[in-house]
Amino acid sequence: MKISVIGCGYVGLVSGFCFADSGHKVTCIDNNDQKIKLLKDNKVPIYEPGLNELLLKNIENGNLAFELNISENIKDSEIVLIAVGTPTGKNGDANLTFVYQCAREIAEFISPNTQIIIKSTVPVGTCDEVENIIKENCIHSEFSVISNPEFLREGNAISDFINPDRVVIGTDDQTNKRIMINLYKSITNEDKILFTSRRSSELIKYASNSMLAMRIIFINEIADLCEKIGADVTDIAKGIGLDKRIGPHFLEPGPGFGGSCFPKDARALIESGKKYDAPQTLLESVILGNENRKKNISKKILNKLDKQTENQIGILGVTFKAETDDMRESPSLIIIPDLQENGMNISVYDPEGEKEASKILKDVNWKKSAYEAAENVDCLVILTDWEEFKNLDLDKIKNSMKRPLIYDFRNIFDPDMMTELGFEYFSIGRG
Ligand SMILES: NC(=O)c1ccc[n+]([C@@H]2O[C@H](COP(=O)([O-])OP(=O)(O)OC[C@H]3O[C@@H](n4cnc5c(N)ncnc54)[C@H](O)[C@@H]3O)[C@@H](O)[C@H]2O)c1
Repeated sequence: MKISVIGCGYVGLVSGFCFADSGHKVTCIDNNDQKIKLLKDNKVPIYEPGLNELLLKNIENGNLAFELNISENIKDSEIVLIAVGTPTGKNGDANLTFVYQCAREIAEFISPNTQIIIKSTVPVGTCDEVENIIKENCIHSEFSVISNPEFLREGNAISDFINPDRVVIGTDDQTNKRIMINLYKSITNEDKILFTSRRSSELIKYASNSMLAMRIIFINEIADLCEKIGADVTDIAKGIGLDKRIGPHFLEPGPGFGGSCFPKDARALIESGKKYDAPQTLLESVILGNENRKKNISKKILNKLDKQTENQIGILGVTFKAETDDMRESPSLIIIPDLQENGMNISVYDPEGEKEASKILKDVNWKKSAYEAAENVDCLVILTDWEEFKNLDLDKIKNSMKRPLIYDFRNIFDPDMMTELGFEYFSIGRG
């Protein structure tokens, strides 16, 4: 099939490259000229494992192309997939400017019978509105708007895309269903596809992310209680996760959830609840609890330090999670400025995050390795669980630190082992 993907971000590039890799002819379009220039030079503008290889392979076999403008470039596409951003708007709702702008731009150029797939996460009713916009601006009326939210996780995005738990497709039309089965059959089994109405499909995505966010905040609060009463959150998570009704996933405590999806989608669902007079009170406490958590992290660190002297703090990991360069709503964006406001000097190492993070985090000393970030510090703080941090030479780390104090907000080390090695080691919810 001939597919145009609009938006060359985490979702657009992964979807586009995976469809190209499964034999479709894909043109990826973005109005950011820097991104398109990089892609045309065979460079991926984001960090996502495996994307580089897919890019080179599918450029080589002629399945991938890149363009700056929508215009003529989408003509003859059977599928136009919209994967532009839907950031948090002024009141917490989703800002749909980019989606609606795409709808206006494509309307003039789509060929008859084009399927417009909304991959971006959008509130209920957005597909209806996209359809109206296109109708007003298109000379023909033979097109369909289908909801097909994406569930990939950054850092594992390609694998998630080609081995999805489910593919949710919102359309009631039988022809559209056949076309979507045809599109996805090269990616996954038909039995993975869940057809729903467009509105249900739009809501499934928000409900899904909000449920995951709830689990994270729940285990974080249980971890806080564990610290006070001397219980171990790892055992608690295991103990509750073994219950098949609960399951083991998303029960790892941390410094608060971030990223481009959970906070924004939970906020948007709260706003939808208000709009339709169906209050999402649980989610309101999730957002509040998460914001408070991020603010309290620096207090925990500062409590362990002598505030009368000048302290140097080393930070390992600033991205919102491992295996991505994404800094959107990362806990580090609250924690590091808080520490700086309290007079701390900060050195930072992140395997992939420096380029993005250095645009936002000011006055930090960027280091080229975890060992450099640990040199001469009064405290080393782990904020992201990059694999390489789990394999550090801890003796070497200890010997280079001024004081062997580690605050591990990802629980990557065993507390007994760390004490034996001579660290003052603090982690989350482990007594
Ligand atoms: N990032 C994730 O892990 C993830 C996972 C599932 C769903 N989503 C959802 O997918 C959508 C995209 O997320 P993302 O993280 O890929 O966003 P992103 O910000 O990484 O990328 C969006 C891209 O769209 C481009 N764009 C915006 N307006 C455009 C226009 N008019 N024409 C052409 N290009 C335009 C931007 O330049 C940008 O490159 C969002 O709705 C998000 O909630 C994201």
